[in-house]
Amino acid sequence: MSALHSQLAILFEGQGDVAQFELLAETLGVSLNTSTALGDTPFFLTWREGELKLLDRELLKKGGLSIDIAPRSGEQRSYPAPKEGAFAQAIGRKTKTVVDATTGWAQDSLCLFRMGYDMTCIERSPIMAQLIADAFARLTHESWVQKLELAPPRLLHGNAIDVLQNLDTAPDCVYLDPMFPPKRKKSALSKKSMTILHELVGEDLDKEHLFEAAFAATSKRVVVKSPDYAPPLGGKPSESFAGKLLRYDVYFKS
Ligand SMILES: C[S@@+](CC[C@H](N)C(=O)[O-])C[C@H]1O[C@@H](n2cnc3c(N)ncnc32)[C@H](O)[C@@H]1O
Repeated sequence: MSALHSQLAILFEGQGDVAQFELLAETLGVSLNTSTALGDTPFFLTWREGELKLLDRELLKKGGLSIDIAPRSGEQRSYPAPKEGAFAQAIGRKTKTVVDATTGWAQDSLCLFRMGYDMTCIERSPIMAQLIADAFARLTHESWVQKLELAPPRLLHGNAIDVLQNLDTAPDCVYLDPMFPPKRKKSALSKKSMTILHELVGEDLDKEHLFEAAFAATSKRVVVKSPDYAPPLGGKPSESFAGKLLRYDVYFKS
């Protein structure tokens, strides 16, 4: 059993082929449980409605969280979506290749993918990496992705501090959105998806090292998303773009 086994179990509720559930349990080194023998882990992964979902005990009856691959509300549905707003300005309109070193729920990665950036995604949590892999597989079945013959973002599982050192080609941009401690406990983590992610992975205490690895790996720029109250991760940024309650700090490599 892996270090994960006290945190997570795979839940089989009688849906589909049990072999898929057994394989996931074996891959992650965790146990396969059923609704009548839940065990005592705080988290579960299971497939519901064709999507891999993360559940905590509160979500067991309510459905669970999967990675949403649909465009955000207000986002233009044409491809590539216009490179507008603070996020796109920070990433750069001429930027082609982006490595998202802190993929998490992949909402930023997918937004950049829809803007036409060539995306590589890194995630170190094995649980989040499974959810991301499931989302990218679902993305390949979307009609617009098939029609345009687009390949989904590449996913690399591991600590980005190491993975960034071994990339074949230096990306134009490395994007970082690590976990910061909330200013007021409730407000910053009010979304269930962020609360559960915080419970799962905790605060990213090595983010200064991650910044150094990102700066060494990029050919042009590092972009860091921070809550507006947090000091800049890499010292004084070259440029900064303000969003709602957050900031994108841009560090150019001259
Ligand atoms: C705040 S979340 C990112 C949210 C993401 N931007 C989104 O749009 O959903 C931070 C994620 O980065 C991951 N992470 C933090 N440090 C990392 C590292 N050194 N290597 C790989 N993943 C890392 C965490 O496991 C977590 O899933």
